[in-house]
Amino acid sequence: MGCEERDRAERTGADTGVPTFEGNPLSEVGHVIGVVSGKGGVGKSLVCGMLATELMRSGASVGILDADITGPSIPRMFGMGGRHVTTVGNLLLPEVSDAGIKVMSANLLLANEDDPVIWRGPILAGAIQQFWSQTSWGKIDYLLVDMPPGTGDVALTVFQSLPVEGVVIVTSPQDLVSMIVGKAVNMAEKMDVPVLGLVENMSYVSCPSCGERIEVFGPSHLAETAEAYGLDVLGQLPMDPRIAGMCDAGTLERDLPAGMLDDAVALIRDLPDHSPATPTDAEVDAVAGATPPHVGACPADEASSPEGAE
Ligand SMILES: Nc1ncnc2c1ncn2[C@@H]1O[C@H](COP(=O)(O)OP(=O)(O)OP(=O)(O)O)[C@@H](O)[C@H]1O
Ligand SMILES: [Mg+2]
Repeated sequence: MGCEERDRAERTGADTGVPTFEGNPLSEVGHVIGVVSGKGGVGKSLVCGMLATELMRSGASVGILDADITGPSIPRMFGMGGRHVTTVGNLLLPEVSDAGIKVMSANLLLANEDDPVIWRGPILAGAIQQFWSQTSWGKIDYLLVDMPPGTGDVALTVFQSLPVEGVVIVTSPQDLVSMIVGKAVNMAEKMDVPVLGLVENMSYVSCPSCGERIEVFGPSHLAETAEAYGLDVLGQLPMDPRIAGMCDAGTLERDLPAGMLDDAVALIRDLPDHSPATPTDAEVDAVAGATPPHVGACPADEASSPEGAE
């Protein structure tokens, strides 16, 4: 067990045998921030895409690691449907959106974006490792991790193996908010990752005629929940079909109205810098001249066979 790994295991009290993934000389990532929730479908990917867009607009350099390997939705949101990653030496190169957001996602590795990803746990964890250790992120200020729903293998791998500095929890008012937020808070606590705050999605609908806020799911309990867990509220987003339309059309970074997540962006921009070490020329040359990586699962991987196929 290496020093970083031992340190993490000691802090989390969990020696699960999950290794800490090493970075690489072509990546200098300032801050790794997870976007999580206690359940699926509440708008994690949307909030992740919005945060990336707003951070980019604020002058930061941003990447998104799409950790939702089996249900990736980030490439489509940024108009990257049908694109594929390239390589430099033995590293993968993320795709870059029109505005300059770097994206690494399982969908960018597939022949067709609607091909299903039917990989077993170890291969899923291996994909996360490739997206960190074998991806040339370059020098970026923020890497946002769009987490898969739930608290399964992949979420654990991200928390235990990547240097996640904090998480933004996404919730929605129709949930049993307290319980759902509680799950996400407890997972972050167990993993010893600070919670930066809460974003409530689908909080209200704005009447198109008069602009009145209609709380379609009843009054929000966000304030009490945030207080109960000692968390900051970083934003409340409306339910708006135009936003869903931007995600589907891949125009989110172009069309997203400004100022929807100002508090979250301000908090993330205020995180103190760590100044990652600049790689030596020898380290850069070593990866730039190497053999391209094997990507994802292949038929020879016993663990990658489809469920029930053996
Ligand atoms: N505020 C909103 N207004 C309109 N549509 C929204 C809003 N939030 C999310 N959606 C739409 O709801 C769907 C689910 O959102 P999203 O994919 O962001 O959820 P998720 O939490 O990432 O889901 P999963 O857990 O499956 O990864 C998407 O089609 C998205 O465009
Ligand atoms: Mg998602």
